[in-house]
Amino acid sequence: MKILITGAAGFLGSHLSEKYVNEGHVVYALDNLMNGNLNNIRTLLHKKNFKFIHDDIRRDEVYNILPNDLDGIIHLAAQIHVDRSIVNPAETFKINVDGTLKILEFSRINDINKILYASTSEVYGSAEYAPMDERHPLSAKHPYGVSKVAADRLCYSYNETYDLGVDIVRCFNLFGPKQKDNGYGGVIGIFLNRVLQGKPPIIYGDGEQTRDYMFVSDAVNAYDSVLKSEINPGRNGINFGSGTEISINKIAEIIIDKASKNGMIHPVHVDARPVEVHRLYANITKAKDLLGFKSNTSFEDGIEIIIDWYKNYKSELWEY
Ligand SMILES: NC(=O)c1ccc[n+]([C@@H]2O[C@H](COP(=O)([O-])OP(=O)(O)OC[C@H]3O[C@@H](n4cnc5c(N)ncnc54)[C@H](O)[C@@H]3O)[C@@H](O)[C@H]2O)c1
Repeated sequence: MKILITGAAGFLGSHLSEKYVNEGHVVYALDNLMNGNLNNIRTLLHKKNFKFIHDDIRRDEVYNILPNDLDGIIHLAAQIHVDRSIVNPAETFKINVDGTLKILEFSRINDINKILYASTSEVYGSAEYAPMDERHPLSAKHPYGVSKVAADRLCYSYNETYDLGVDIVRCFNLFGPKQKDNGYGGVIGIFLNRVLQGKPPIIYGDGEQTRDYMFVSDAVNAYDSVLKSEINPGRNGINFGSGTEISINKIAEIIIDKASKNGMIHPVHVDARPVEVHRLYANITKAKDLLGFKSNTSFEDGIEIIIDWYKNYKSELWEY
């Protein structure tokens, strides 16, 4: 296959790129390095079947240099940070919505009928019922979540209007090696980074908010099963997650238990964020029924894999 991966130098994109390059497919990897890092894909850069394009999905000219006979597109490039979306919603909408529109138009014009769009569980907002299936209302509140709703529905519109073949992939929270662990990073990376340095994790609010965390290798399997499916399973959204719920307090407890030298670290609680989602918990029945999907790596095992990666592979090269 000849595949375009946008956001390929980011966390999920680098893992997917590695899989498809190692399988011998030709991967066009587009990233403006706004949040990604060349170190994430440095083992691929010299490979003949990996073509890195340092460019921006918002730029019209980029679509003139992309091949128009792609077998599939995995569209991950996005501004992913809630806090940054609150500070600058216009930037987030230009990347996440206008950028997605350009990918969809490029696909429509070139008759590319296999597009995976990285939507997210954040489109649902806080759970009105749990576990949340794909019929849960799209009640996102913060600009990041709403921009993902807009792009998610835009993909659906292209399916309905042009019969395009977009799969709207709604992963719940992901974690794994190469996820950013400082500044605008995921909570697990940030907690781990602090605990490994002997510092306490900082928890917003009472810590009883919950998430459904899936290890990155399971996310790669999820995307792969959709890419290779012939039935357009995500035509109107498909959830992927572990199907289990874990509180932020519990996450802190497990990380302290596994990563601190003496277990004597205690989390620090600060004020809750006003628009933070309180509960996210995936119903993955659709993915099970249509694709036979199940996540294989437990939360605890995933944390151990990341700790091992920190100790053996993560060097100053991965500092941002
Ligand atoms: N990480 C999660 O927990 C999670 C969960 C559900 C959905 N998602 C979605 O999956 C996708 C990938 O997430 P991630 O965690 O790997 O994020 P990431 O920030 O690590 O990767 C996104 C990549 O997109 C690139 N990018 C941003 N704007 C760009 C632009 N205008 N042009 C080209 N490249 C651009 C960034 O440099 C980055 O490398 C995102 O769309 C996100 O919304 C992530």
